[in-house]
Amino acid sequence: MTTTAVLGAGKIGEALLSGLLQSGRSPDDLLFTERYPERSAELTKRYGVRGVDVPTAAGLADVLVVAVKPQDIEPLLDELAAVLRPGTLIVSLCAGLPTALFERRLPEGVPVVRVMPNTPMVVGEAMSAISGGRHARPEHLALAEAMLAAVGKVVRVPEAQQDAVTALSGSGPAYFFFLVEAMIDAGILLGLPRAVAADLIIQSAVGSAAMLRDSGEHPVALREAVTSPAGTTISAIVELEKHGVRAALIAAIEAARDRSVQLGKAHEK
Ligand SMILES: NC(=O)c1ccc[n+]([C@@H]2O[C@H](COP(=O)([O-])OP(=O)(O)OC[C@H]3O[C@@H](n4cnc5c(N)ncnc54)[C@H](OP(=O)(O)O)[C@@H]3O)[C@@H](O)[C@H]2O)c1
Repeated sequence: MTTTAVLGAGKIGEALLSGLLQSGRSPDDLLFTERYPERSAELTKRYGVRGVDVPTAAGLADVLVVAVKPQDIEPLLDELAAVLRPGTLIVSLCAGLPTALFERRLPEGVPVVRVMPNTPMVVGEAMSAISGGRHARPEHLALAEAMLAAVGKVVRVPEAQQDAVTALSGSGPAYFFFLVEAMIDAGILLGLPRAVAADLIIQSAVGSAAMLRDSGEHPVALREAVTSPAGTTISAIVELEKHGVRAALIAAIEAARDRSVQLGKAHEK
């Protein structure tokens, strides 16, 4: 059994700890680091997992999951470089940070797996894409994959595709929340109470997502099945097309990819 330490138990780090415990990992095999003692005590009370400092985490854990904000990475790398044990696997959840950054700043030969998760991790429904760095062997990727499978689905992608992944599934939940928000507004415009409109749309989103995941059908086939000739749905679809919603989504995701590339450049040197 491996010991895993989450460095930075914020939103994503806490979600991972919680998911690992729910999947049956013992609290004794898990550790975390946090900056503030109050937050650390609160997490220990909630999960029974020990909060430690970075040198202790590096001394005890076989897997170090880096879950600090990208802008907090530099001091953490300085701290880690001094205490990292050979063979420790680094799993980075930090958006936009290349594996090469860890390889350059940490002792030679460090295995690094880069992950782009998303916030549905808090309900065990994350979509995580993983890429191995120069020294990540198949067993390192398998270890990272098994860990993330406890909190959702995992795919492997070449690291060059991580900017596209960030734009699609990393930011993806925000696009769905945006659509749901707009549809609830439409319900209010049509005279429904907000709570009723929210129930109708959220359950429709959950049901549609389950059909997309479980039916094996293409989204076009599922949409056609609710689009009858001269019916209500086709009237709505015509308006969506007139307003360029498809083109807007494609352009939005392209803009997110471009921003991800730009943010990544800050860490090239
Ligand atoms: N949220 C998302 O949608 C999402 C999606 C994909 C990837 N990610 C990635 O996940 C990472 C974490 O994001 P988040 O939203 O969970 O951020 P967050 O809530 O701010 O969590 C980061 C945590 O790390 C702590 N921290 C910072 N430096 C530390 C250090 N040196 N030692 C120990 N703890 C330290 C922070 O403490 P303080 O509160 O004191 O700063 C905070 O509790 C980011 O790199 C982000 O790119 C997030």
